[in-house]
Amino acid sequence: MSISKTPLVGIIMGSKSDLPVMQDAIDLLKKLDVSFEVSIVSAHRTPERMFNYAKSAAERGLKVIIAGAGGAAHLPGMVASITHLPVIGVPVKSSNSIDGWDSVLSILQMPNGIPVATVALNAAKNAGILAAQILAVNSEELSRRVIAFKEELREVVERNAEEVEQTDF
Ligand code: RP5
Repeated sequence: MSISKTPLVGIIMGSKSDLPVMQDAIDLLKKLDVSFEVSIVSAHRTPERMFNYAKSAAERGLKVIIAGAGGAAHLPGMVASITHLPVIGVPVKSSNSIDGWDSVLSILQMPNGIPVATVALNAAKNAGILAAQILAVNSEELSRRVIAFKEELREVVERNAEEVEQTDF
């Protein structure tokens, strides 16, 4: 388990093969200076590890969990069933995924009472942004960083628009 400062966000994934996708959440949290930990927790291959991770998450100080998985992607939903912390699910288009819809629907279609905030297929960056926004509710400093990040997005679009408008098609 890699730890950067006292972790507020727990980033977990069902397999190391999910890491290239989940790296976007890691990069985003680093950019916004949000502390996190990263680990691999498989709902199917290590159910006890999953239970222990989710059960201890809040008392270890985590505030939000980002969970990525592909195919029969049960990790985010099962973690959400064990902890009261908000869980953001990242559907991963993995080697055992038919076309990505299996991952999306496995994470999205939760029963009433146990929500998982599901982002788009492979959209770990959005999961990172959402986690930062949740934490920013209680931090003016982090709110400022989130606002600055959104401002960067706006500036990129403005620059691109200007470039396209000046292009002689
Ligand atoms: C899921 O199965 C994992 O989250 C991963 O997306 C997928 C494939 O895992 P590997 O067979 O690559 O370990 O549980």
